[in-house]
Amino acid sequence: MSPFRLTRTLPGDAMDAALRADVRQGLTGMPKTLPPKWLYDAHGSELFEKITRLPEYYPSREEGELLRSVAGAIAVVSGAQTLVELGSGAYSDKTRYLLGALPGLHTYVPVDVSASALRQAGQALTVEYPDLNVHAFTADFTSDLPLPDTTPGPRLVVFLGSTIGNLLPAERATFLTSLRSQLSEDDTLLLGTDLVKDEADLIAAYDDPAGVTAAFNKNVLSVINRELGADFDPDAFDHIALWDPDPEREWIEMRLRSRAEQTVKIPALDLTVDFTGGEDLRTEISAKFREDGVRRELAAAGFELRHFFTTEAHTYGLALAAPTALPRRHTWSALLQSPSVRP
Ligand code: SAH
Ligand code: AVI
Repeated sequence: MSPFRLTRTLPGDAMDAALRADVRQGLTGMPKTLPPKWLYDAHGSELFEKITRLPEYYPSREEGELLRSVAGAIAVVSGAQTLVELGSGAYSDKTRYLLGALPGLHTYVPVDVSASALRQAGQALTVEYPDLNVHAFTADFTSDLPLPDTTPGPRLVVFLGSTIGNLLPAERATFLTSLRSQLSEDDTLLLGTDLVKDEADLIAAYDDPAGVTAAFNKNVLSVINRELGADFDPDAFDHIALWDPDPEREWIEMRLRSRAEQTVKIPALDLTVDFTGGEDLRTEISAKFREDGVRRELAAAGFELRHFFTTEAHTYGLALAAPTALPRRHTWSALLQSPSVRP
Protein backbone atom coordinates (compact mmCIF):
# COMPACT_ATOMS: atom_id res chain seq x y z
CA MET A 1 0.00 0.00 0.00
CA SER A 2 1.31 3.46 -0.88
CA PRO A 3 1.80 6.15 1.79
CA PHE A 4 -1.13 8.47 2.64
CA ARG A 5 -0.59 11.71 4.53
CA LEU A 6 -3.22 14.26 5.56
CA THR A 7 -2.06 17.76 6.45
CA ARG A 8 -4.57 20.07 8.06
CA THR A 9 -3.74 23.62 7.02
CA LEU A 10 -7.09 24.47 8.58
CA PRO A 11 -7.16 23.45 12.25
CA GLY A 12 -10.64 22.72 13.66
CA ASP A 13 -10.80 26.02 15.54
CA ALA A 14 -10.02 28.04 12.39
CA MET A 15 -12.86 26.22 10.58
CA ASP A 16 -15.15 26.94 13.50
CA ALA A 17 -14.19 30.64 13.51
CA ALA A 18 -14.73 30.85 9.73
CA LEU A 19 -18.17 29.22 9.99
CA ARG A 20 -19.17 31.61 12.77
CA ALA A 21 -18.00 34.65 10.81
CA ASP A 22 -19.73 33.49 7.60
CA VAL A 23 -23.01 32.69 9.34
CA ARG A 24 -23.07 35.96 11.25
CA GLN A 25 -22.23 38.02 8.19
CA GLY A 26 -24.44 36.06 5.79
CA LEU A 27 -27.55 35.88 7.93
CA THR A 28 -27.47 39.48 9.16
CA GLY A 29 -26.91 40.89 5.65
CA MET A 30 -29.54 41.66 3.04
CA PRO A 31 -30.20 39.56 1.04
CA LYS A 32 -29.23 36.60 3.24
CA THR A 33 -26.43 34.42 1.81
CA LEU A 34 -24.09 31.62 2.88
CA PRO A 35 -20.87 30.49 1.14
CA PRO A 36 -21.38 27.10 -0.55
CA LYS A 37 -18.39 25.46 1.14
CA TRP A 38 -20.51 24.81 4.26
CA LEU A 39 -22.72 22.41 2.26
CA TYR A 40 -19.96 19.77 2.45
CA ASP A 41 -19.85 18.06 5.82
CA ALA A 42 -19.65 14.23 5.61
CA HIS A 43 -23.39 13.96 4.86
CA GLY A 44 -23.27 16.83 2.34
CA SER A 45 -20.34 15.18 0.53
CA GLU A 46 -22.35 11.93 0.34
CA LEU A 47 -25.39 13.80 -0.98
CA PHE A 48 -23.25 15.50 -3.62
CA GLU A 49 -21.98 12.09 -4.78
CA LYS A 50 -25.64 10.98 -5.07
CA ILE A 51 -26.33 14.09 -7.17
CA THR A 52 -23.55 13.11 -9.58
CA ARG A 53 -25.41 9.86 -10.29
CA LEU A 54 -28.79 11.52 -11.00
CA PRO A 55 -29.91 11.29 -14.65
CA GLU A 56 -30.66 15.05 -14.68
CA TYR A 57 -27.23 16.08 -13.32
CA TYR A 58 -25.24 15.95 -16.57
CA PRO A 59 -21.99 17.83 -15.54
CA SER A 60 -20.22 14.93 -13.79
CA ARG A 61 -21.10 12.41 -16.48
CA GLU A 62 -20.12 14.72 -19.33
CA GLU A 63 -16.90 15.83 -17.70
CA GLY A 64 -16.00 12.20 -16.98
CA GLU A 65 -16.56 11.12 -20.57
CA LEU A 66 -14.64 14.10 -21.93
CA LEU A 67 -11.77 13.56 -19.53
CA ARG A 68 -11.59 9.87 -20.41
CA SER A 69 -11.10 10.77 -24.06
CA VAL A 70 -8.49 13.50 -23.54
CA ALA A 71 -6.58 12.35 -20.43
CA GLY A 72 -3.80 10.81 -22.54
CA ALA A 73 -3.19 14.05 -24.45
CA ILE A 74 -3.27 16.13 -21.27
CA ALA A 75 -0.82 13.75 -19.60
CA VAL A 76 1.67 14.08 -22.48
CA VAL A 77 1.38 17.88 -22.69
CA SER A 78 1.78 18.38 -18.94
CA GLY A 79 4.47 15.74 -18.32
CA ALA A 80 3.42 16.08 -14.70
CA GLN A 81 5.19 14.41 -11.82
CA THR A 82 2.81 15.93 -9.29
CA LEU A 83 -0.96 16.05 -9.74
CA VAL A 84 -2.72 18.58 -7.52
CA GLU A 85 -6.52 18.43 -7.39
CA LEU A 86 -8.55 21.23 -5.84
CA GLY A 87 -11.99 20.37 -4.42
CA SER A 88 -11.23 16.70 -5.03
CA GLY A 89 -14.25 15.33 -3.10
CA ALA A 90 -14.86 11.87 -1.62
CA TYR A 91 -14.05 9.71 -4.63
CA SER A 92 -11.59 11.45 -6.95
CA ASP A 93 -13.28 9.20 -9.51
CA LYS A 94 -12.72 11.24 -12.70
CA THR A 95 -9.16 11.87 -11.53
CA ARG A 96 -8.42 8.19 -12.04
CA TYR A 97 -8.36 8.80 -15.82
CA LEU A 98 -5.42 11.14 -15.24
CA LEU A 99 -3.77 8.94 -12.62
CA GLY A 100 -3.86 6.11 -15.14
CA ALA A 101 -2.51 8.27 -17.97
CA LEU A 102 0.45 9.86 -16.14
CA PRO A 103 3.16 7.17 -16.12
CA GLY A 104 5.80 9.29 -14.36
CA LEU A 105 3.51 10.49 -11.59
CA HIS A 106 5.24 10.76 -8.21
CA THR A 107 2.67 12.37 -5.92
CA TYR A 108 -1.08 13.07 -5.94
CA VAL A 109 -2.13 16.05 -3.82
CA PRO A 110 -5.90 16.22 -3.22
CA VAL A 111 -7.04 19.47 -1.57
CA ASP A 112 -10.51 19.82 -0.03
CA VAL A 113 -12.27 21.62 2.79
CA SER A 114 -13.79 18.28 3.83
CA ALA A 115 -11.39 16.03 5.80
CA SER A 116 -13.88 13.14 5.66
CA ALA A 117 -13.96 13.32 1.85
CA LEU A 118 -10.14 13.34 1.69
CA ARG A 119 -9.81 10.34 3.98
CA GLN A 120 -12.36 8.35 2.02
CA ALA A 121 -10.70 9.10 -1.33
CA GLY A 122 -7.19 8.62 0.10
CA GLN A 123 -7.93 5.18 1.54
CA ALA A 124 -9.18 3.86 -1.80
CA LEU A 125 -6.39 5.42 -3.86
CA THR A 126 -3.53 4.10 -1.75
CA VAL A 127 -4.82 0.57 -2.34
CA GLU A 128 -5.47 1.07 -6.07
CA TYR A 129 -2.18 2.88 -6.82
CA PRO A 130 0.41 1.21 -4.57
CA ASP A 131 3.35 3.16 -6.04
CA LEU A 132 1.79 6.59 -5.66
CA ASN A 133 2.39 9.00 -2.77
CA VAL A 134 -0.89 10.61 -1.72
CA HIS A 135 -0.47 13.80 0.30
CA ALA A 136 -3.87 15.32 1.09
CA PHE A 137 -4.51 18.82 2.44
CA THR A 138 -7.60 20.14 4.17
CA ALA A 139 -7.72 23.73 3.06
CA ASP A 140 -10.06 26.44 1.87
CA PHE A 141 -8.91 27.21 -1.67
CA THR A 142 -10.55 30.64 -1.50
CA SER A 143 -8.33 31.78 1.36
CA ASP A 144 -5.27 29.58 1.78
CA LEU A 145 -4.11 27.58 -1.17
CA PRO A 146 -1.42 25.20 0.05
CA LEU A 147 0.44 24.05 -3.04
CA PRO A 148 3.39 22.08 -1.67
CA ASP A 149 6.70 23.05 -3.27
CA THR A 150 8.44 19.96 -1.95
CA THR A 151 7.01 17.58 -4.55
CA PRO A 152 8.71 17.25 -7.94
CA GLY A 153 7.52 19.34 -10.91
CA PRO A 154 6.14 19.85 -13.39
CA ARG A 155 2.77 20.03 -11.69
CA LEU A 156 -0.64 19.55 -13.23
CA VAL A 157 -3.29 21.38 -11.18
CA VAL A 158 -6.82 20.18 -11.88
CA PHE A 159 -10.01 21.83 -10.69
CA LEU A 160 -12.86 19.67 -11.92
CA GLY A 161 -16.64 19.52 -11.69
CA SER A 162 -17.01 23.22 -12.61
CA THR A 163 -16.55 23.97 -8.91
CA ILE A 164 -14.94 27.26 -10.02
CA GLY A 165 -18.51 28.25 -10.97
CA ASN A 166 -19.44 28.20 -7.28
CA LEU A 167 -17.27 31.31 -6.81
CA LEU A 168 -18.51 34.82 -7.58
CA PRO A 169 -16.66 36.52 -10.48
CA ALA A 170 -14.48 38.62 -8.13
CA GLU A 171 -13.68 35.51 -6.04
CA ARG A 172 -12.75 33.63 -9.23
CA ALA A 173 -10.34 36.42 -10.18
CA THR A 174 -8.70 36.39 -6.74
CA PHE A 175 -8.53 32.60 -6.71
CA LEU A 176 -6.97 32.31 -10.19
CA THR A 177 -4.46 35.08 -9.48
CA SER A 178 -3.41 33.44 -6.23
CA LEU A 179 -3.10 30.08 -7.96
CA ARG A 180 -1.01 31.62 -10.74
CA SER A 181 1.35 33.20 -8.22
CA GLN A 182 2.22 29.73 -6.89
CA LEU A 183 2.85 28.07 -10.25
CA SER A 184 5.96 27.87 -12.40
CA GLU A 185 5.90 28.34 -16.14
CA ASP A 186 6.25 24.60 -16.74
CA ASP A 187 3.12 23.77 -14.70
CA THR A 188 -0.30 23.26 -16.30
CA LEU A 189 -3.86 24.01 -15.20
CA LEU A 190 -6.89 21.93 -16.19
CA LEU A 191 -10.18 23.63 -15.39
CA GLY A 192 -13.63 22.02 -15.70
CA THR A 193 -16.27 24.50 -16.86
CA ASP A 194 -19.96 23.79 -17.32
CA LEU A 195 -21.24 25.75 -20.33
CA VAL A 196 -24.33 27.93 -20.83
CA LYS A 197 -27.23 25.89 -22.19
CA ASP A 198 -31.04 25.72 -22.26
CA GLU A 199 -32.63 26.95 -19.07
CA ALA A 200 -34.86 23.85 -18.83
CA ASP A 201 -31.83 21.51 -18.79
CA LEU A 202 -30.13 23.65 -16.17
CA ILE A 203 -33.13 23.82 -13.88
CA ALA A 204 -33.71 20.06 -14.17
CA ALA A 205 -30.10 19.46 -13.08
CA TYR A 206 -30.52 21.63 -9.96
CA ASP A 207 -34.09 20.68 -9.01
CA ASP A 208 -34.32 16.93 -9.48
CA PRO A 209 -37.64 15.15 -8.91
CA ALA A 210 -36.07 12.71 -6.43
CA GLY A 211 -35.27 15.66 -4.14
CA VAL A 212 -31.57 14.84 -3.69
CA THR A 213 -30.48 18.40 -4.54
CA ALA A 214 -33.13 19.75 -2.14
CA ALA A 215 -31.69 17.56 0.65
CA PHE A 216 -28.14 18.70 -0.26
CA ASN A 217 -29.24 22.34 -0.11
CA LYS A 218 -31.09 21.96 3.21
CA ASN A 219 -28.12 20.11 4.71
CA VAL A 220 -26.42 23.45 5.31
CA LEU A 221 -29.11 24.19 7.90
CA SER A 222 -28.30 20.92 9.71
CA VAL A 223 -24.60 21.90 9.67
CA ILE A 224 -25.45 25.20 11.40
CA ASN A 225 -27.75 23.41 13.87
CA ARG A 226 -25.05 20.91 14.80
CA GLU A 227 -22.07 23.27 14.89
CA LEU A 228 -23.70 26.39 16.34
CA GLY A 229 -26.65 24.94 18.28
CA ALA A 230 -29.19 26.66 15.98
CA ASP A 231 -32.81 25.57 15.72
CA PHE A 232 -33.41 25.71 11.95
CA ASP A 233 -36.30 23.48 10.86
CA PRO A 234 -35.25 22.32 7.36
CA ASP A 235 -38.91 21.51 6.60
CA ALA A 236 -39.78 25.18 7.08
CA PHE A 237 -37.81 26.03 3.91
CA ASP A 238 -38.30 25.15 0.23
CA HIS A 239 -35.45 24.34 -2.13
CA ILE A 240 -35.35 26.80 -5.03
CA ALA A 241 -33.21 26.71 -8.20
CA LEU A 242 -33.26 29.85 -10.37
CA TRP A 243 -31.44 30.71 -13.59
CA ASP A 244 -30.10 34.27 -13.80
CA PRO A 245 -29.60 35.05 -17.52
CA ASP A 246 -27.94 38.47 -17.00
CA PRO A 247 -24.79 38.33 -19.21
CA GLU A 248 -22.71 39.54 -16.24
CA ARG A 249 -23.91 36.56 -14.22
CA GLU A 250 -25.28 33.60 -16.21
CA TRP A 251 -25.57 31.47 -13.10
CA ILE A 252 -27.89 29.13 -11.27
CA GLU A 253 -28.77 30.24 -7.77
CA MET A 254 -29.68 27.70 -5.14
CA ARG A 255 -31.79 29.24 -2.45
CA LEU A 256 -33.78 28.22 0.61
CA ARG A 257 -37.14 30.00 0.74
CA SER A 258 -38.78 30.48 4.11
CA ARG A 259 -42.29 28.99 3.96
CA ALA A 260 -43.62 31.43 6.59
CA GLU A 261 -42.52 34.19 8.92
CA GLN A 262 -40.16 32.61 11.46
CA THR A 263 -37.36 33.35 13.92
CA VAL A 264 -34.29 31.14 14.22
CA LYS A 265 -32.03 31.12 17.27
CA ILE A 266 -28.26 30.63 16.89
CA PRO A 267 -27.03 30.39 20.51
CA ALA A 268 -23.30 30.05 19.72
CA LEU A 269 -23.49 33.49 18.07
CA ASP A 270 -25.96 34.92 20.55
CA LEU A 271 -28.04 35.77 17.49
CA THR A 272 -31.67 35.51 16.43
CA VAL A 273 -32.48 35.73 12.74
CA ASP A 274 -35.92 36.74 11.43
CA PHE A 275 -37.24 35.46 8.11
CA THR A 276 -40.33 36.88 6.47
CA GLY A 277 -42.61 34.46 4.63
CA GLY A 278 -41.16 33.91 1.14
CA GLU A 279 -37.74 35.36 2.06
CA ASP A 280 -34.79 33.68 0.35
CA LEU A 281 -31.41 32.62 1.69
CA ARG A 282 -28.90 32.13 -1.17
CA THR A 283 -26.76 29.06 -0.51
CA GLU A 284 -24.86 28.69 -3.81
CA ILE A 285 -24.28 30.16 -7.20
CA SER A 286 -23.23 27.86 -10.03
CA ALA A 287 -21.97 29.95 -12.93
CA LYS A 288 -22.13 28.57 -16.47
CA PHE A 289 -19.39 29.60 -18.86
CA ARG A 290 -18.59 30.46 -22.49
CA GLU A 291 -15.20 29.74 -24.05
CA ASP A 292 -14.44 33.43 -24.56
CA GLY A 293 -15.22 34.26 -20.95
CA VAL A 294 -13.01 31.42 -19.72
CA ARG A 295 -10.15 32.66 -21.92
CA ARG A 296 -10.58 36.23 -20.60
CA GLU A 297 -10.73 35.21 -16.93
CA LEU A 298 -7.65 33.03 -17.34
CA ALA A 299 -5.72 35.74 -19.19
CA ALA A 300 -6.54 38.33 -16.53
CA ALA A 301 -4.95 36.04 -13.93
CA GLY A 302 -1.81 35.24 -15.94
CA PHE A 303 -2.81 32.06 -17.77
CA GLU A 304 -2.98 31.38 -21.48
CA LEU A 305 -5.78 29.10 -22.66
CA ARG A 306 -3.93 26.51 -24.75
CA HIS A 307 -6.85 24.25 -25.62
CA PHE A 308 -10.56 24.15 -24.87
CA PHE A 309 -11.84 20.57 -25.10
CA THR A 310 -15.63 20.34 -25.32
CA THR A 311 -18.29 17.67 -25.56
CA GLU A 312 -19.71 17.24 -29.04
CA ALA A 313 -22.81 19.26 -28.16
CA HIS A 314 -20.67 22.01 -26.55
CA THR A 315 -22.36 21.49 -23.22
CA TYR A 316 -19.22 21.07 -21.08
CA GLY A 317 -15.64 22.28 -21.44
CA LEU A 318 -12.21 21.41 -20.10
CA ALA A 319 -9.79 24.33 -20.33
CA LEU A 320 -6.10 23.46 -20.54
CA ALA A 321 -4.05 26.50 -19.64
CA ALA A 322 -0.42 27.42 -19.09
CA PRO A 323 0.93 30.14 -16.81
CA THR A 324 2.22 33.11 -18.77
CA ALA A 325 5.28 35.03 -17.59
CA LEU A 326 4.50 37.08 -14.49
CA PRO A 327 4.99 40.82 -14.86
CA ARG A 328 8.36 41.78 -13.39
CA ARG A 329 8.01 43.39 -10.05
CA HIS A 330 10.02 46.47 -11.07
CA THR A 331 9.73 47.32 -14.71
CA TRP A 332 12.26 49.73 -16.20
CA SER A 333 9.59 52.38 -16.77
CA ALA A 334 8.47 52.19 -13.13
CA LEU A 335 12.08 52.50 -11.95
CA LEU A 336 12.80 55.46 -14.21
CA GLN A 337 9.75 57.26 -12.86
CA SER A 338 10.75 56.80 -9.24
CA PRO A 339 12.28 60.01 -7.76
CA SER A 340 15.51 58.30 -6.63
CA VAL A 341 16.62 57.49 -10.22
CA ARG A 342 15.28 60.58 -11.92
CA PRO A 343 18.05 62.70 -13.45
N1 SAH B 1 -14.15 17.45 -7.87
C1 SAH B 1 -15.25 16.57 -7.50
C2 SAH B 1 -16.07 17.12 -6.33
C3 SAH B 1 -16.82 18.39 -6.62
S1 SAH B 1 -17.87 18.85 -5.24
C4 SAH B 1 -16.12 16.35 -8.70
O1 SAH B 1 -15.89 16.97 -9.73
O2 SAH B 1 -17.03 15.53 -8.61
C5 SAH B 1 -16.99 20.27 -4.68
C6 SAH B 1 -15.88 19.87 -3.74
O3 SAH B 1 -15.17 21.06 -3.42
C7 SAH B 1 -16.38 19.27 -2.42
O4 SAH B 1 -15.65 18.12 -2.11
C8 SAH B 1 -16.15 20.37 -1.40
O5 SAH B 1 -15.86 19.88 -0.11
C9 SAH B 1 -14.99 21.13 -2.02
N2 SAH B 1 -15.00 22.56 -1.67
C10 SAH B 1 -16.02 23.44 -1.80
N3 SAH B 1 -15.62 24.68 -1.44
C11 SAH B 1 -14.31 24.56 -1.06
C12 SAH B 1 -13.34 25.48 -0.58
N4 SAH B 1 -13.64 26.79 -0.42
N5 SAH B 1 -12.09 25.03 -0.33
C13 SAH B 1 -11.77 23.71 -0.50
N6 SAH B 1 -12.65 22.79 -0.94
C14 SAH B 1 -13.91 23.20 -1.22
C1 AVI C 1 -19.65 21.22 -6.90
N1 AVI C 1 -20.45 22.09 -7.75
C2 AVI C 1 -19.77 22.39 -8.99
C3 AVI C 1 -21.84 21.63 -7.93
C4 AVI C 1 -22.56 22.54 -8.95
O1 AVI C 1 -23.14 21.98 -9.87
O2 AVI C 1 -22.49 23.76 -8.83
C5 AVI C 1 -22.60 21.60 -6.62
C6 AVI C 1 -24.05 21.33 -6.79
N2 AVI C 1 -25.01 22.13 -6.40
C7 AVI C 1 -26.16 21.60 -6.70
N3 AVI C 1 -25.96 20.47 -7.35
C8 AVI C 1 -24.62 20.27 -7.40
